Amino acid sequence: MASFSEIILTWYASYGRDLPWRRTTDPYAIWLSEIILQQTRIAQGTAYWERFMERFPDVGSLAAASEDEVLRLWQGLGYYSRARNLHAAARQIVAQGGFPSTLEGIRALKGVGDYTAAAIGSFAFGLPAAVVDGNVYRVLSRVYGIDTPVGTTEAKKRFTALAQSLLPADRPGDFNQAMMDFGATLCTPQNPACLTCPLREECIALQTGRTAELPVRKAGPGIKERHFVYVYLRVDGMTAIHRRGPGDIWQGLWEPYLIENDVIPAPASVIPDPAPVIPDLFRNLPPLRTGVRHQLTHQTIYADFYVCEPGFRPPLPEDFIWIPESALSDYALPRLVQILLKEVINLSVN
Ligand code: ADE
Repeated sequence: MASFSEIILTWYASYGRDLPWRRTTDPYAIWLSEIILQQTRIAQGTAYWERFMERFPDVGSLAAASEDEVLRLWQGLGYYSRARNLHAAARQIVAQGGFPSTLEGIRALKGVGDYTAAAIGSFAFGLPAAVVDGNVYRVLSRVYGIDTPVGTTEAKKRFTALAQSLLPADRPGDFNQAMMDFGATLCTPQNPACLTCPLREECIALQTGRTAELPVRKAGPGIKERHFVYVYLRVDGMTAIHRRGPGDIWQGLWEPYLIENDVIPAPASVIPDPAPVIPDLFRNLPPLRTGVRHQLTHQTIYADFYVCEPGFRPPLPEDFIWIPESALSDYALPRLVQILLKEVINLSVN
């Protein structure tokens, strides 16, 4: 079966947009297009790019111009700091003796962030850096069914790692352009063209009817984020649970040992140090699952699950009771805990 990258590249060969800055590998021309396109639509951006290329055909001519002239030519595009940065970066480039050809060098130019550096690096120099923007989030979250909310550091890490892992080493530039076009013209925010999509067989969002729900937006103001670490204790077929008290969610429901992290968001893969009560038992425990997202009306909970089998009953806070695992279904449990239990003991509770 064709890989994600092969499918995307094949699609791009037929349906990619013919844009003037794609017909060159001149880093100056490509950089100029990327700065213009940062906050401008292609139709409008193309006219400005052509005007700039005509008036300033190379970085030397742009650097030699006055800031005033650059701003005048920029007029109508808005976000004028882009024009000022462009001009300053042109002088930076000239002072360095030429356009930088490493990702770090490109990233160090004024007005260039991770996305723009990856775009320029891959288009002009074939550097293996994946671009990650709204289009990429949308395509990847849908195809791979990822519901990490966009706008969080966790999402940035996760989507960057995924995009990077999909990037074909021999064609990073084409792959990046393909992702941009695929997200902009087919896998659109509203009414994506799933019927004609070459990834319809693979797309988890399509298979599960979630194209409208993905990508997930970051919780808005008023929605609190919390991070829970549940440790399921198991000793001779018994497990420890306690009843949640008043003043918080799930009052009166039962749950296993819980550590609530106050660092949010965190793809926690380790138990906080020091862990309360029985720290040594929890150290170096491999997680059963991490980053389980659980949405309540006014809270988003990110949960990690661990199973701990110490071989003896560790000391626990007084309100804990030991019950046979087979009796768990007699207790009222939050949905999130039911998900955990399903993983641990295949317990199906209502
Ligand atoms: N948006 C930003 N960079 C772009 C590019 N190179 N092609 C199309 N759209 C873009």
